[in-house]
Amino acid sequence: MKNIVVLISGSGSNLQAVIDACQQNRINGQVCAVLSNTANAYGLLRAKQADIPTHVISPKNYADRQTYDEALKHTIDQYQPDLLVLAGYMRILTPDFVQHYLGRLLNIHPSLLPKYPGLHTHRKAITNGDTEHGTSVHFVTEELDGGPVILQAKVPIFAGDQENEVVKRVQTQEHNIYPLVINWFIEGRLSMVNGKAYLDGKILPPEGYAAE
Ligand code: GAR
Repeated sequence: MKNIVVLISGSGSNLQAVIDACQQNRINGQVCAVLSNTANAYGLLRAKQADIPTHVISPKNYADRQTYDEALKHTIDQYQPDLLVLAGYMRILTPDFVQHYLGRLLNIHPSLLPKYPGLHTHRKAITNGDTEHGTSVHFVTEELDGGPVILQAKVPIFAGDQENEVVKRVQTQEHNIYPLVINWFIEGRLSMVNGKAYLDGKILPPEGYAAE
C-alpha cells in the first residue's frame, strides 16, 4: 500500500476528498499522516475521525523557516511517504524542503495557473471581470505556484457572483480532480522529469491534461 502524507492549514475539505477516495478505492493508497501548521485547523478533526495520525507543528516554536521545515521533514519522513500532498497548506516552503520531495510533492491552487499565483485568487478573478476561473493541480517546484500543471478544472463566473460562491464552485471541482491526479501518481502513471509533467509517458502541455 502506497503511503500519502497530507499537509493542511485549514478546513481540509480537499483532505476529506482524498480520505474518501482512499476509502472507496478510487485512490489505491492510504493517508498515513496529516500535519498542520495551525492547531485549530478543522482538517485535523477530519483526520482524527478517520483514525489517521495527526501532528501540529507550530511555527512559533522555531527560530526561522529553515528550522521549521527541517522539523516538518523529520516528522513526515517517519511515515516514509511515496507522495506528499499539499491541501490548503498556506506556508511557503524552503528550497531544501522542496528539493527533498521533488517529484513526489503535489499542490492544488485555486486558479487557472499561470494566472493568479499567490493569495486571493477568486477575488482577483472577480475584480478583473473574468468570466472563467478554476483550479490547478501541479507538481511543486521552488517557484511559488510555478511547477508544471497536471490537470485543471474550469468554472464560470457569473455576473453578480460573490467571492464565497466562486470559492464553493471551485472547491467542488477540486474535490473531483485532486483525488484523480493523486491516483495517477500512486499508480505510477504520473511523474516529473526535468521540470516537466508526464502522464503515461507523454509530456503534458502547459495547461495540463484538461487541454481544450
Ligand atoms: C483550496 O481551495 C486550495 O485550492 C487552496 O486552499 C483551499 C483549502 O481548502 N490552496 C491554496 O490557496 C494554496 N495556495 P480546504 O482546506 O478546504 O481543502
